[in-house]
Amino acid sequence: MMILILEKMIEEGNPAFSCSWESARLGKAGFLAHSRLFVLYTVLKPNFWLRSIHMKVLITGGAGFIGSHLAEACLKRGDEVYIIDDLSTGSENNINSFREDERFRGRFFVTIGSIFDHETMLELTGISDVVFHMAAAVGVRYILKNPLESIRINIQGTEKVLELCAKFKKKVLIASSSEVYGKHLHAPLVETDNIIYGPSDKFRWSYAASKLMDEFTALAYFRTKGLKVIVARLFNTVGPRQTGAYGMVIPRFAEQALTHEPLTVYGDGNQTRTFTYVKDVVKALIALMENEETPGEVFNIGGTEEITILELAQKIIRASGSASAIERIPYSEAFEKDFEDMQRRVPGIEKIKTAVGFEPETDLDTILERVIADVKKKKGL
Ligand SMILES: NC(=O)c1ccc[n+]([C@@H]2O[C@H](COP(=O)([O-])OP(=O)(O)OC[C@H]3O[C@@H](n4cnc5c(N)ncnc54)[C@H](O)[C@@H]3O)[C@@H](O)[C@H]2O)c1
Repeated sequence: MMILILEKMIEEGNPAFSCSWESARLGKAGFLAHSRLFVLYTVLKPNFWLRSIHMKVLITGGAGFIGSHLAEACLKRGDEVYIIDDLSTGSENNINSFREDERFRGRFFVTIGSIFDHETMLELTGISDVVFHMAAAVGVRYILKNPLESIRINIQGTEKVLELCAKFKKKVLIASSSEVYGKHLHAPLVETDNIIYGPSDKFRWSYAASKLMDEFTALAYFRTKGLKVIVARLFNTVGPRQTGAYGMVIPRFAEQALTHEPLTVYGDGNQTRTFTYVKDVVKALIALMENEETPGEVFNIGGTEEITILELAQKIIRASGSASAIERIPYSEAFEKDFEDMQRRVPGIEKIKTAVGFEPETDLDTILERVIADVKKKKGL
C-alpha cells in the first residue's frame, strides 16, 4: 500500500518527489521530509534509484500528438524536458495544459523551430542526456499532399538527429511505423518479417520507404559509430490530442459521429487494424529508453485487439450516441487512383514484452470513450 501511495506521488509529479531544487526551497524541514520519503521508498523498492535519476530529455516533434504525451510523462517523472517543434502538424494547444503547470516550473523548455535549424539542434542535443526523435511528416494523406517535403523531413531530418546524437554520444530513440511492413496479409507482423511495397509511382509507399530508410540509417549508426539507438515501430496509436485533420481514423470518425455527419469508410471496410492508447505507448517508449539491452534493436509497439474499420465505425456511432450513417468511399476517391491499403496490421509484441515487459493496458472501448470526450471538449459539444 505504502509503495502504491509513493508511486502515485511520483507519477503525478508531486513536488515531494519532483526535483532537488524543490527540497532546497522548502528549507531544512522540507529537506528532512524528502530524505525520509526517499529512504522509505528505497527500503521498500531498492531499484527505485535506477528509475529515479532525473534526465534531460529532448523530444523532437514534442508539440505533436505522441510527443506531447511523452513530454508530459517525462515531466511527471521529474525529468527536465526540452522540445522542438515547427508546428507543421503539431500545435501549442497540445502542450498548453502542462506548460503553465506549477509542478513543472523551470523544467519544461519549448523551442518553436525546425530540426533543420543546425545551431538550435546543436545546442539542444548538447545539453540533453537522451533524445526521442518523434518529428516527422505523418499520415498517408499528408504525405500524398506534400510528397517531396515529407521525404526530406523523414530522411534528412532523421539523419540530422542521428548525426548530432553520434557527435555528442547521446542515446536516441527513433519513432518508426508499422507502415514499414508494407502490404502483408498475414498476422501478426514480427520484426524479422520481410517487407513488401508497391512501385515507386504509388506515392503512399514513400512514407513506408522513408521510415524504413530511417531504420537502416539508425542501425548503421549503431554498427559503425556505436551510437546507442533504438528503433520503435509504432502501430496505430490513438488518444486525446490526436487530430483527424490528416486522416487518422478514430478522431475522424469521432468528429463525424458527434456532428451527425456520415462516417466515411474507405474501401469495403473489411481492412483491419489494432489501436493502442497513447499513454501505453509512451510507457513503452520510456521503458525502451531506460533499458540497457535495447540499443541496436527494432521493436514493435502496438495493441492486439484486431477490428475491421467497418466494425470500428459502428462502435463509434454507438459509443457517441450518434444518428450518423456509414458511407463507403472508394480508395481512388479518398486518396488517389490505384491507391493500395494494407489489409491487416496486427503487431507481434513478444519481443518488446520480453525486453521491457510491455503489454497494452487500455482496451478499445475505454480508448473510444476518452477520444470521444476529447473531441466533444475541443468542439464545445
Ligand atoms: N500516431 C500514430 O499512430 C503513429 C504510428 C506510427 C508511427 N508514428 C510516428 O510517431 C511520431 C509522432 O507521430 P504523431 O502521431 O505524434 O504525429 P504528429 O504529427 O502529431 O507529430 C509529429 C510532430 O513533428 C513536428 N514536426 C514535423 N516536422 C518537423 C520539423 N522539421 N521540425 C520540428 N518539428 C517537426 C510536427 O509539427 C508534429 O508536432 C512520428 O515519427 C510518426 O511517424 C505515429
